[in-house]
Amino acid sequence: MAQVQVAVLGYGTVGSGVVKVIDTNHDSILGKSGADLHVKYILDLREFPGDPNEQKVVHDYEVIVNDPEVQIVVETMGGVEPAFTFTKRALEAGKSVCTSNKELVANRGTELLALAKEHQASYMFEASCGGGIPIIRPLRTCLCADVIDEITGILNGTTNYILTKMIDEGLEFDEVLKDAQQKGYAERNPEADVEGYDACRKIAILSSLAYGQRVDYTDVYTEGISKISSADILYAKAMGRTIRLLAFSKKEGSQVTAMVAPHLVGKDDPLYAVNGVFNAIFVHGNMLGDAMFYGQGAGKEATASAVVADVIEEAQTLGKGVMSSWSPEKLPLTDISKTRKRYFVRVKGDAADAAKVADIFGGIETVQAGLAGEYGFLTQEMTEQDYQERAAKVEGILSMIRVREK
Ligand code: HSE
Repeated sequence: MAQVQVAVLGYGTVGSGVVKVIDTNHDSILGKSGADLHVKYILDLREFPGDPNEQKVVHDYEVIVNDPEVQIVVETMGGVEPAFTFTKRALEAGKSVCTSNKELVANRGTELLALAKEHQASYMFEASCGGGIPIIRPLRTCLCADVIDEITGILNGTTNYILTKMIDEGLEFDEVLKDAQQKGYAERNPEADVEGYDACRKIAILSSLAYGQRVDYTDVYTEGISKISSADILYAKAMGRTIRLLAFSKKEGSQVTAMVAPHLVGKDDPLYAVNGVFNAIFVHGNMLGDAMFYGQGAGKEATASAVVADVIEEAQTLGKGVMSSWSPEKLPLTDISKTRKRYFVRVKGDAADAAKVADIFGGIETVQAGLAGEYGFLTQEMTEQDYQERAAKVEGILSMIRVREK
């Protein structure tokens, strides 16, 4: 195979990681895959004096898009624009594109996939979900023979780090967030992570692939972790459970539900032991049964490794493109009010008041965590709508967390 010229858009954490992986592992990649990769350009607004690749830095995208030698474009800029326009122009020029940009894939992935197909090119995004964990390719190829009916993931490293630290050290959310920001584990503007929006985009991408139809991330019910308190964690521990921000979608018949929200997770659940910045994705298929994918959901080298795996596959399929798509028609999601689960509820008062609550909920299991002036209880399984109607009759509810049953 002739040398394949690659351009990298954005020389930030992931972009510089991509250049590092290609430089460091060039010979091993060539030996294993036959792909002789060479980074010809790096697009960035900044200069990088002293960087071994400073001669490759260009500031004008026209240089890249108009160079017929460039066959693969790596988009690691993040955000929707100008990443969308640059990707679109590269695909229209017959170049393949790969990316770690989940925001762009969730917002415009459907049309970019169609454009890639039209031009016998590829649009690939392994690194957009779960960082370095292989999950997009397994869904696209290895699990293609299965009907996937559930994906449940811990898809955000920042929130998993925060929850793990709150649980291990008994700290409050705000304290841990501040510490995580100081250490560089959380963004200065942490909203996309802590409010669940990042996990929401990722579950929408995974669900679109798994069910073969576009899942609009704005339809996915999303709650973050900013309201989780050290008191919630004490109750979780009293029940022998932990709290995790889960992003899931489930298919029952033709009905698909999807949600991002904190859940109580029991010790017998494989997601229980996923700690710190690690991510894990549990998949259930009608033939496969259960499978779980675990690893580093973020980080320079891990994410770049996933991007370069896409570069290699694109290099091997130049002129043909990698078959990957979902139907552009929006998959209607079932209203979460109809979904069934158990709920853990904290309420002001005394366990002696629990009899009234038991009447309202038709049987509860009370939980004590040694906190004065409040108690907790677990409901039986019921729909969200049923829960909301009953909860409206109970005074002094402090918090509610859904329970994941395995
Ligand atoms: N902010 C993301 C996370 C980065 O914390 O998981 C990887 O997508």
